[in-house]
Amino acid sequence: EKGGYEHYMLKEIHEQPQALRQALSGRVDELQGTVDLGLDLPAEYLRSLEEIQIVACGTSYHAGLYAAHLIETHADVRVTVHVASEYAFRGGRDPWRTLVVAVTQSGETAETLGALRDAARTGARTLAVTNTVGSSVTRAADDALYIRAGPEIGVAATKTFVSQVATLALFAVHVGRVRGTLSATEASAILGDVRGLPGAVQQALDADEQVRAVAEEYADSEAFFFIGRHLGHPVALEGALKLKEISYDHAEGFPAGELKHGPLALVTEQTPVLAVLTDGANADATLNSVKEAESRGAPVIGCLSDGRGEKLLDDTLDVPEIGEMSPLVANVYLQLFAYHVANLKGRAIDKPRNLAKSVTVE
Ligand code: M6R
Repeated sequence: EKGGYEHYMLKEIHEQPQALRQALSGRVDELQGTVDLGLDLPAEYLRSLEEIQIVACGTSYHAGLYAAHLIETHADVRVTVHVASEYAFRGGRDPWRTLVVAVTQSGETAETLGALRDAARTGARTLAVTNTVGSSVTRAADDALYIRAGPEIGVAATKTFVSQVATLALFAVHVGRVRGTLSATEASAILGDVRGLPGAVQQALDADEQVRAVAEEYADSEAFFFIGRHLGHPVALEGALKLKEISYDHAEGFPAGELKHGPLALVTEQTPVLAVLTDGANADATLNSVKEAESRGAPVIGCLSDGRGEKLLDDTLDVPEIGEMSPLVANVYLQLFAYHVANLKGRAIDKPRNLAKSVTVE
């Protein structure tokens, strides 16, 4: 049932190209620059939107942060992203012009459901972005958008992250086209990058031996830091979550620019820094943070497009250039890195201590 893989997590990491193809299947017309998601969101409503609020937890929250950049850029609408347990509808917003999007793989996370229901009570329209047909969130929301990743058994969310972001990228294009903020040509280019994802992710998966070797080099470290900017920021957060969840090592992710505002005090020769240096992640600026870490003796592992900053790095993992989707490929490397570190330590990868696949209590 694990398809020859030692763990569900590894199997699911390797299922990402297929999961992505399913997410895109029948939804994209690259030539016309249009997307059909079968949603019941009238054009008039989308045009009058003032704000999209995304509510989610854990990995789904990170997918929401990523998607927020895409939606704001392409659909020219304000997007706020909320950890569901902290969500409250407030601040003079007009519920009729606010769409609340719950992002949840399982569709059963109590806090995400609670936030969605609170929003619905104000009169705001709600949309569920989920992997699970018939889940509670699909019954609570006005409409559902499926990410079609297939069942995810490992407690660590892997393939569903990339499927959430890819599906929300299609949503961003759809809303942008309806609102007239994105031309057909611009939409085609974005859709081309999204279509490039399965192949690019496959290239990263094919480099697994290299990632394993890097993991072996650093598995004994005391703590790990993950840095990235712009679209690389949610990926840094996600990389750290994955590593801490399954290896039990201390791992922290933050925006690269924040390094010098505190975390740098923790950086030593014993703390590897993993940096997202791809397209869409403001790599040139992040290289300054890489230099700050290196001058404290920290080894730096970079996920990079086009060899940028290669000389500064101790280890490099190559990411094909697919525009705004590139940081998602870096994420695949970070998943593999977390997996190998945890596996070298003999951790219970598919069922880490203290954690459940879906958290149905608040
Ligand atoms: O099913 P959901 O997407 O709502 O779950 C949210 C989080 O509980 C989940 O992403 C959790 O953070 C994962 N274990 C992370 O790998």
